[in-house]
Amino acid sequence: MTRRMAFMSEPRVPFGIKAFDKMISGGLLSGSANLLEGAPGTGKTTLAMQFIYSGITHYKEPGLIVTFEEFPQQYYHDALQFGWDFKKLEEEGMLKIVFSDPQFALDELSKMDGQFVTMIEEMGAKRVVVDSINHFESLAGDSHELREIERKFINALKREKVTSILLRENDNVLGQATQVTSRVPFIVDSYMLLRFVEIDSTIEKAICVLKMRGSDHQKDIRCFKITPHGIEVEAKFSGREGIMSGITHSTPQDAFVNVFGKKQ
Ligand SMILES: Nc1ncnc2c1ncn2[C@@H]1O[C@H](COP(=O)(O)OP(=O)(O)OP(=O)(O)O)[C@@H](O)[C@H]1O
Ligand SMILES: [Mg+2]
Repeated sequence: MTRRMAFMSEPRVPFGIKAFDKMISGGLLSGSANLLEGAPGTGKTTLAMQFIYSGITHYKEPGLIVTFEEFPQQYYHDALQFGWDFKKLEEEGMLKIVFSDPQFALDELSKMDGQFVTMIEEMGAKRVVVDSINHFESLAGDSHELREIERKFINALKREKVTSILLRENDNVLGQATQVTSRVPFIVDSYMLLRFVEIDSTIEKAICVLKMRGSDHQKDIRCFKITPHGIEVEAKFSGREGIMSGITHSTPQDAFVNVFGKKQ
């Protein structure tokens, strides 16, 4: 088998969002740890819930959501807005939403007989979401310690062979990210970014994949919408520059067309 064929046959874990799965060659790599980053309100939790919901309903893969942020009731409520009945899935044993504190989660995932390890194994969880890893900052005295904690946590998830999405909030709403302390983007297998972008005085949402280890992925920056059925990924932002800086402007070619019209 050629090296290329080996990649192609590697099992994928799809989001169930056609256009986005296509961007990542079919889905996340099975057993990988993946970072999903964005400013508050960009849709991190929604995308992560959709990943879990789709896994259960389309692929019969049990899911676990570990939250340091919101009580399970909030998830039941938010998921139901999209028609996803998380409470029912929990009753059926396909889903668990666990409100935890970061130290407990770290300890119980690191020990072979820890509570989280036992839970993952007993329910057969294949997909795990952690909302959000920013909370590990409260456990660390300095950036070196933080990196050790993050590394330990990610290694434990990988040891359990689950496909995980780690949510991370960044606090700049428009513009370049400035965080430098975390090494998570280097440790994870893929790095997805959600952004607000300003286009013609309205705020749109953009998604892009910054890295995907051992796999091809599309480098486009795509527009996405949160609809009553969840996230829908749309076309590329065409004729726009500056998407990653958060404030876009027309490309010179587009500006020319706007002013003078298309050449006949
Ligand atoms: N049912 C819905 N229909 C359309 N848009 C929605 C719906 N529910 C939420 N949204 C949009 O999604 C945004 C919040 O999404 P979400 O909670 O996934 O973001 P987040 O990145 O996790 O935010 P935070 O950092 O605050 O946790 C809201 O600001 C709202 O614009
Ligand atoms: Mg959230």
